[in-house]
Amino acid sequence: MATVILKRTGQKMPLVGFGLWKVTKSTCANTVYEAIKAGVRLLDGAGDYGNEREAGQGVRRAISEGLVKREDLFITSKLWNTFHAKEHVKPITKMQLELWGIDYFDLFLIHFPIAIQYVDPAHRYPPEWFGDDGKVYLQNTPLQETWTAVEELVDDGLTKNIGLSNCNASLILDVLRYARIEPQVLQVELHPYLTQEPLVKTVKALGIAITAYSSFGPQGYVELGLDQGAPGLMEHGTVTAIASKYKKTPAQVLLRWATQRGIAVVPKSNSVLRIGENLQCDSFDLEASEIKGISSLNINLRLNDPGDIDSRLAIFA
Ligand SMILES: NC(=O)c1ccc[n+]([C@@H]2O[C@H](COP(=O)([O-])OP(=O)(O)OC[C@H]3O[C@@H](n4cnc5c(N)ncnc54)[C@H](OP(=O)(O)O)[C@@H]3O)[C@@H](O)[C@H]2O)c1
Repeated sequence: MATVILKRTGQKMPLVGFGLWKVTKSTCANTVYEAIKAGVRLLDGAGDYGNEREAGQGVRRAISEGLVKREDLFITSKLWNTFHAKEHVKPITKMQLELWGIDYFDLFLIHFPIAIQYVDPAHRYPPEWFGDDGKVYLQNTPLQETWTAVEELVDDGLTKNIGLSNCNASLILDVLRYARIEPQVLQVELHPYLTQEPLVKTVKALGIAITAYSSFGPQGYVELGLDQGAPGLMEHGTVTAIASKYKKTPAQVLLRWATQRGIAVVPKSNSVLRIGENLQCDSFDLEASEIKGISSLNINLRLNDPGDIDSRLAIFA
């Protein structure tokens, strides 16, 4: 299995994983179990996805049946926006580990560089974006406070690696100014409609691994009605022509466009067949001109922008 080596720990992060956002809660345990059986070794979860307990059940079944050992898996989770204050970081991470039924994460990311008011998990979990009255309540916790608290998770053995998500280059550079433990991974939206070349170049130069999310562009947002009416990438002539040439699926071409450049991917699917198909995406190589041709589809279409929820959250503006 192709991997990316994380600089600080030397740990190998699989280049192709499985994303848990929108994986149906009622079938999640079985889907995760089947995914591991099909060869998936990286699970990309988050407190916000609301299926950590179920994902953990799938993991524990796979381990108890001897399919894998815990150390064969790379489990990622994320810190939600309501837990950015230093006193909330460790308790919520411990709660998330308990939900999963594991002792440590391989990677723990700050989900968004956005701090919103604390919601007691006993009151509502996952807390999502809004207070009880449907409004967003910002909180003045600087990212430095959150990062310092997240570093302590490494000291305590609750996670092996830490990283950022949804951050631009200037914020990453700022974290590097004060980090005692540097971010090892940046997870961002990245697909042929949002290629982000300058960000990719900078992050690579800084020695931080990149994970692309929403590799299929609008496809992952159709079920939420948030695809902005963008034409599907899997049906795009540029992608389908390359898929026919290599006798691969458009999904595999879209994933390979990223992995061939060392960018990890975490495609989501509720179908075990598709999970297997996605995992087999690096059994061929695209020509440089084909990678360039796919990249030329860029229209800077961002599908996951908190600024659409509340203008004060426009972190990519
Ligand atoms: N850090 C962040 O803020 C953030 C934000 C968004 C996403 N993520 C992570 O990235 C993961 C992936 O992103 P995403 O969920 O937005 O979407 P995605 O993986 O780009 O697309 C998922 C969509 O593609 C379909 N699909 C999957 N494999 C397919 C295949 N081989 N052929 C045809 N259709 C296929 C799925 O349908 P079926 O389920 O019906 O197969 C689903 O509709 C998430 O699950 C999450 O782990 C992180």
